[in-house]
Amino acid sequence: MDWSTSRAAWADAPVVTGTDRPIAKLPTMPTASTTPTDAHSMRAAILTGYGDADKLQMRTVPRPTPAAGQVLVRVRAAGVNDWDWGLVTGMPRISRLFQGLSRPRRTILGLDVAGEVTDVAPGVTRFRRGDRVLGDLSSHGFGGFAEFVATDDRAFTRMPDTMSFTDAAALPHAANLALQALTLADLKPHDRLLINGAGGGVGSLAVQIATHRGVTDIVGVDHASKLDFLRELGFARALDYTATDFTRLPEKFDVVIDAKSTRSPSSYARVLAPGGRYVTVGGNAGSLLGLAVWGRLVGRRTGTRLSLVMLKANAEMDAVVELYNSAVLRPRIDSVRPLAQIADAVARFGRGEHRGKVVVEID
Ligand SMILES: NC(=O)c1ccc[n+]([C@@H]2O[C@H](COP(=O)([O-])OP(=O)(O)OC[C@H]3O[C@@H](n4cnc5c(N)ncnc54)[C@H](OP(=O)(O)O)[C@@H]3O)[C@@H](O)[C@H]2O)c1
Repeated sequence: MDWSTSRAAWADAPVVTGTDRPIAKLPTMPTASTTPTDAHSMRAAILTGYGDADKLQMRTVPRPTPAAGQVLVRVRAAGVNDWDWGLVTGMPRISRLFQGLSRPRRTILGLDVAGEVTDVAPGVTRFRRGDRVLGDLSSHGFGGFAEFVATDDRAFTRMPDTMSFTDAAALPHAANLALQALTLADLKPHDRLLINGAGGGVGSLAVQIATHRGVTDIVGVDHASKLDFLRELGFARALDYTATDFTRLPEKFDVVIDAKSTRSPSSYARVLAPGGRYVTVGGNAGSLLGLAVWGRLVGRRTGTRLSLVMLKANAEMDAVVELYNSAVLRPRIDSVRPLAQIADAVARFGRGEHRGKVVVEID
C-alpha cells in the first residue's frame, strides 16, 4: 500500500454525518497497512484525487463506529450514480469549491446502499442487528463503496424478503427521483409522455411506473446504441438523441421527464401541448440554470409548466418498496462487479455505456 497516499486520503476521510445527529467517530489511524481486514478495519475504495475512475483505489482502512442514532451496516451491494461520477471527475470545476479545491474531501463514495445492520448505537429503535436495509446516503455522507458504513438510521428502510441486495442497491436514488419527477409532473393516465435520457437509472424506472399508472405509447430518447434496450423496457417509440432533437418534433406532449437537460426553457416549452409539464431531474449546468431562472416565466408565457426536481432522498422509499413488492417495479441491472473492480464499474458509467444500473457487490 502507498502509505503516504493513503494517509493523505484519511486526513480527508468522509465525516459520516446524520442531519442533526452526532458525528460518527472514525477510529485512529493504524500505523501500518492492515491487510487483510480485522474487526477494526475494512476494505474500501478510496478516491485519491480528481480525474478518472482509476483514482478509486482499494485500501484497508479503519472501520467506522456508529455514533448515537446511527447504525453500522455491512454493505452487500452499492449502486453507481451520476453524483459518484461527478465527485470522481470534480466536474464541473466550480463544484470543487464545495468538494475540495485541490483534492476531494469526500473519499469514500457510494450513495445507494444495500446491506445488513451489524451494530446499533443508542437511540436507534427502528432496526436490530441482522435487519436487511436499503437507502440513499446522499444526504448522509455517502460511504457505500466500502465493507461497512455507519450513518443515521433514518437513511435506511427495511428490505422486503424477496428483494436481492443487487436490486436493493439499484433502487433508492433513481426510483425516488423517478417518483418525485412523475409526481411533480402530475402525470395522468391519458397523458402523452416522453422521457429523455430514457435508458439510464431514472428513465428505466420511470417508464415502468408510468405504464402502471395507465400511460401508453411512451416515447423514449437516448443514444442510438440503447434503442433496442428502450423497446425492451416498454417504450413504444425510441429515438436517438444524436439524430433527432425531440424539442423539434411536430407532435406535442403533455409530460416530458428529462434526465439530461441540455437545451433552453423555450425549446422545452415548444414540444409541450397546452397545459403541458416539463420536469427535469438533471442535465448540464447551463440548461439547469436557464430553467431555474427563466422556467417559470417561459411557462407562464406559453401556458406550460417547466420545473426542476430537488431530490428528497428516501422520501418515497415506502412507495418504492410497495411497487417492488407488487412486481410493478424491477430495476434493470446493467452489470454487477465485485468492489475490487470498482474502477471498471465507475468507468463504464462514466463512458455512458450502461443500460439501467451499474452495481458493485461486496462479499
Ligand atoms: N434533481 C436532483 O435533486 C438530482 C439528484 C441526484 C441526481 N440528479 C441528476 O439526475 C440524473 C439521474 O439520471 P440517471 O440516474 O437516469 O442517469 P444515467 O443513468 O446516467 O442515465 C442518463 C441517460 O441519458 C443518456 N444521455 C446522455 N446525454 C444525453 C442527451 N443529451 N440526451 C438524451 N440522453 C442523454 C445517457 O446515455 P449516454 O451517456 O450513452 O449518451 C444515459 O443513458 C442525473 O443527471 C443526475 O445528475 C438530480
